Amino acid sequence: MKAAVVTSFAEPPHYRDFEAPRPRDGEITLDVVAVGLHPRTRSGAAGNHYTSTGRLPMIPGIDGVGRRADGRLVYFVGGDDVLGTMAEQVAVDPRRTVELPDDVDAARIAAAMNPAMSSWVALRRRVPVRPGQSVLVLGAAGNAGSMAMRVAKLLGAGEVLGAARRPGEGILGLDEVARAGHVDLVLDYLWGEPAEQAIMAILTARSDRGRELNWVQIGSVAGPTIQLPSVALRSANFRLQGNGQGAVSAKAYLAELPALIDEIGRGTIAIVPRPTPLSEVETAWAHRDAPGERTVLVTGR
Ligand SMILES: NC(=O)c1ccc[n+]([C@@H]2O[C@H](COP(=O)([O-])OP(=O)(O)OC[C@H]3O[C@@H](n4cnc5c(N)ncnc54)[C@H](OP(=O)(O)O)[C@@H]3O)[C@@H](O)[C@H]2O)c1
Repeated sequence: MKAAVVTSFAEPPHYRDFEAPRPRDGEITLDVVAVGLHPRTRSGAAGNHYTSTGRLPMIPGIDGVGRRADGRLVYFVGGDDVLGTMAEQVAVDPRRTVELPDDVDAARIAAAMNPAMSSWVALRRRVPVRPGQSVLVLGAAGNAGSMAMRVAKLLGAGEVLGAARRPGEGILGLDEVARAGHVDLVLDYLWGEPAEQAIMAILTARSDRGRELNWVQIGSVAGPTIQLPSVALRSANFRLQGNGQGAVSAKAYLAELPALIDEIGRGTIAIVPRPTPLSEVETAWAHRDAPGERTVLVTGR
């Protein structure tokens, strides 16, 4: 089969021949239809994601839309394996697949699921949002962040605020987060210095230090680490946790996906897919998506 193959972490993947996957016990083979090029996929292909094993060659890609032998389209989640999903075929455990409606737009699902599930799963499984709670999304201008604002509303939040380095309509600047001093929940896609400053700004601005502040760490586009003064944890009811692979079980993730697929199908959580043939993976890697857009590699299958 053909696949996007990483042979050096310093280079983009190349479109190459690769041995087709052999299904192991219970696995099924899918013809891959569409795979999103997510930030997580880029970091895996660069060898610097926390699940990276350093083994090469590897095929990047963490999820996608595929066609089963019976012709049915499914959304599927790959394993943490060197054999990722940017290939003409994958072998997957059927429990990691969710059937899609007949009229589904495969590219839209492949584009939307990863950024959308980050907040959906956080607010359903990690820190279930209670009706009327107020939410701040830190990093609200990216795809996952802008979807998080929508998802929070859909799941019952009251006030939903956003903050980003480039403020816009309805989005605060990072130097204005003290105005979110009253929020119940923060979904943090930034980490690094902006999160470090935002934690202290919000806690300092808080009139009721006993009120829970649940901080959910989801992305780290602004840096992998922070310095956290111990007083942050002692002086307020501040709870810090993360959401991602490992923080929530694969079973729990998968249980949330059908409802999320429905919302994406209805267009309530939107993204514009940018379909690019798998054969043009090197060009796709060089492209930087505009806000609201996501490159999707398609096989024509
Ligand atoms: N844990 C999970 O389940 C999960 C799932 C999906 C995504 N994520 C993570 O969430 C993050 C965002 O993903 P995405 O799909 O939204 O990516 P995206 O669409 O590429 O958006 C990235 C956003 O980050 C902003 N940004 C980049 N560097 C920044 C910096 N130094 N300071 C402030 N803002 C910065 C960008 O702003 P500009 O437009 O100004 O450059 C852009 O708005 C990534 O780290 C991704 O891995 C986690």
